This record gives sequence, structure tokens and C-alpha cells, in this order.
Amino acid sequence: MRAYITRNIHAAAEEALRQAGCEVVVNPDPRPLTAEELREAALRFDGLITLLSDKVNAELLAIPGCAGVFANYAVGFDNLDVAAATRAGIALCNTPDVLTAATAEMAWALLFAAARHICEGDRIVRQGRFHGWEPLMLLGHEAAGRTLGIVGAGRIGAAMARRARGFEMPILYTSQRGSTPAMEEMGARQTTLDVLLRESDFVSIHTPLTPQTRHLIGEAQLRQMKSSAVLVNTARGPVVDEKALVRALQEGWIAAAGLDVYEREPAVEPELLTLPNVALAPHLGSATFNARRSMAELAARNLLDFFDGRVPRTCINPEYINAAKRSGEEP
Ligand code: GLV
Ligand code: GLV
Repeated sequence: MRAYITRNIHAAAEEALRQAGCEVVVNPDPRPLTAEELREAALRFDGLITLLSDKVNAELLAIPGCAGVFANYAVGFDNLDVAAATRAGIALCNTPDVLTAATAEMAWALLFAAARHICEGDRIVRQGRFHGWEPLMLLGHEAAGRTLGIVGAGRIGAAMARRARGFEMPILYTSQRGSTPAMEEMGARQTTLDVLLRESDFVSIHTPLTPQTRHLIGEAQLRQMKSSAVLVNTARGPVVDEKALVRALQEGWIAAAGLDVYEREPAVEPELLTLPNVALAPHLGSATFNARRSMAELAARNLLDFFDGRVPRTCINPEYINAAKRSGEEP
């Protein structure tokens, strides 16, 4: 079997695939593939490991002779057209669980960076503007005892909540799947987005990007938040209307934000760069040695499961198999 990896990721993926006897080609260039290069690879290989920047769209998936499996090197899969893949009998996979702790920790890092002016403080020190301990310099808010609102109570949202218990924070959450046992067990309270926004001191976004969550947080929502509130986004940029967020930060509708993701990555709304009250990270949620190695292993396992004729272990669309059966192919 022939596998293609669209970017030089952790070597564990290539090693696992080669060990299992696969032929593996890795994009040698330190940049994402163009659409044309991705198309070519999809036609020449049996399975691909893709990045969240690779657009695996309906057009690509419908090409006769397209690879039978795409294993996304990410938990989010808004770059994959799931319905089109299922129709075509193509398996799609992601890398859940192995990056949950890393991403929740990143959300906490950004929450504290924003709430305690870490980035602004760093600039003050580097620029030689630190002239000694100041009684009133860069005062922020404590997490202790203040309310954390979690938008999207999946694996990462729940991990965020679990860590909040150490800070003795009441927790509110919204979830499209209704009340979530993992959240209820830790005393978190499910509520509406409106109530969550009005009552939370910190709001952390953990929802996938779908047509329903695009611009879930726009002007109306930001205006509902407390003027002392901090917004954290480690999910997907388009969940927040970035232009509205700029105004919210400029005009003090909210106090601060911590962002790991952007609406038009890698572009960043230019005005965000000028604002002192936002901590900016370059999409580092899963960027730990541990998570990236495990993601590579899991992506490779998914391809190998498929090559062995099994439904991949973290397949997003196990129904693909019905289309594959209908067309008389062995999956
Ligand atoms: C990263 O953003 C991921 O979805 O894994
Ligand atoms: C601050 O550094 C303190 O000791 O209170």
C-alpha cells in the first residue's frame, strides 16, 4: 500500500507505516500542498495523512481513482467534506483524545496570559520600561472563585472544566448534545449561550466549526459579556467574528482575549496586532512533543486499519462502508 503525508509531521507516522510494509512519501517542502498537488497525491496514493490546511472537498473526493482514506492530523475536520466522502465510500479519520490535554492546557495558558497581562508585561520588560515593582501596574483578575463558561462540552471542553476545579471556579457550559454526564459530575451547570455570556468571567470556546457555529460569537454576543470578561478561543477562528472582536477589545465591551486560532488563518485581523489586551498564539493547541507524536501514531494507525480492511479506529464517517459495499468494492 502507498501512503502520502502532506507535510513533514512527527516521524512516528512514517516509521509506523514503513514498519507495516507501506511505501511512504512525505511532501519534502516546508509548506502546505497546493490544491493541484493534493489532487495529484490523492490520485497516486491509497491513503493520505492530511493537515487541517488541506481542503479535502467534494470535487476532490468525487474524482474516480481517489484514495480510499484520508487521516487528518488534527481533531477538527472542518477541512474535510464528510458527506461527500461518505457518498464516495471514502473513509475520513481524525486524531481525538491524544491532544485533549495539550489543547486544554493551551486554553488555560491563554486564559492566564490574557487575564494577567503576560504578553504586555513581556513587552514592558523587553523594551526596558520596567522601572521597579509598581503598586498599580497591569492589574488583572484572578480565576479563583470566578465563573468559567465553556462553549462546547466535548472532550477538550470537559478537560478545560476539570482543570477549573483546581481554581475553585463555578462552571457553566453549553452543549449541542444536551446535558453532558462528564460535566454534570464535576458540578458544571448547563445553560443557554445567552446566560453563559452574561454570567461568565471567562468564556472559553471548544466547539467544532460547523455552519451552525460560524460566527457563533459576534457583536450581539460580545455585547452581552461582562466588561471585565476574558474570551479564549483555541477551537476554530471563524467561530468568532474577528472584526466584532476587535471592536469589543477596542471599546471595552470585554476586557481581554486569548486567541490561538484566526478567522482567515494564517492572516490575522491587522487591528488585533495593535491591541494590548489580546494574547496571540500561532495555532499551538496540540503543539506538545507528546501530543504531536501520538497524533502521528494515531493517523498512521488509521491508515493501517483501512489498509487491513477494517474500519479505522477513529473514523469520522464509519457509514462510508455502506457506499463502498453498494458499489461492490471491498473497503
Ligand atoms: C487543531 O486545530 C486540531 O484540530 O487538531
Ligand atoms: C510581591 O512581589 C509581594 O511580595 O507581595
